[in-house]
Amino acid sequence: MTVMPAMEPAPARTALRRRYLMCRPEHFAVTYAINPWMDPAAGADAGRAVAQWEALRNAYLALGHEVSLIDPVPGLPDMVFAANGALVVGGRVYGARFAHAERRAEGPAYAAWLRANGFADVLEAEHTNEGEGDFLTLDHVILAGTGFRTEIAAHQEAQEFLGRPVVTLRLVDPRFYHLDTALFPLGGDNVAYYPGAFSPGSRAVLERLFPDAVLADERDAAVLGLNAVCDGRNVVINAEAEGLIGTLRDRGYEPVPVDLSELRKAGGGPKCCTLELRA
Ligand code: ARG
Repeated sequence: MTVMPAMEPAPARTALRRRYLMCRPEHFAVTYAINPWMDPAAGADAGRAVAQWEALRNAYLALGHEVSLIDPVPGLPDMVFAANGALVVGGRVYGARFAHAERRAEGPAYAAWLRANGFADVLEAEHTNEGEGDFLTLDHVILAGTGFRTEIAAHQEAQEFLGRPVVTLRLVDPRFYHLDTALFPLGGDNVAYYPGAFSPGSRAVLERLFPDAVLADERDAAVLGLNAVCDGRNVVINAEAEGLIGTLRDRGYEPVPVDLSELRKAGGGPKCCTLELRA
């Protein structure tokens, strides 16, 4: 006779107040293609993008988070994706160095804003890295993506500068070109991810580090459902990721669905629009 373990109720989750930096997509457009989501022939509507982005910002404010704004720069249509602008941990700023020429000017723009707003300790990176697009910070480790944008040398550079262990994860599916399109932290000690985005070795690393992770399927990943932002309890997530939203609810999280379909035309979702400023 097999004894079935009793279903444990999902634990209560606690939200921590966050400080985010965002950039209103006034100059948003799809004029070049640097990932498979982008089709310049199909274009994008900046007005619609601004309206969806405003709703995202209002969702953060309603959850009690602080949102700072950086001025958008004409000619930088992807600058709305603030996550790529830097990695800020313990008040220190590891500056972004973009892989593509089209976005290169964003790195100095974000570094200048951070310097002007109380973050004096800014490292101008020697190695190519796209900030929080490829570096996701948990309590004891920083998970770092490579394969499409950020170089492994940048993982080592960030570890040395921030004094936190950085774990390299290899991305293998071009649709999930940044780590934050395939994985997001659930508080400080767990993650949700789409296994198919990772190499076999990196999948094994994730299984070992996070045996209790929330796994997403391809349908959730294909609507950028993994590009979500969790404050420990609430998860701001693309509304189309219905399966993942259900799983998160079962696990005791509070999904906050948003519609960022216009920004997805550039390959971005809620997390891409959000840089966390960690004191
Ligand atoms: N079009 C942008 C790019 O390809 C999208 C960046 C999305 N940002 C992110 N954190 N995943 O660079």
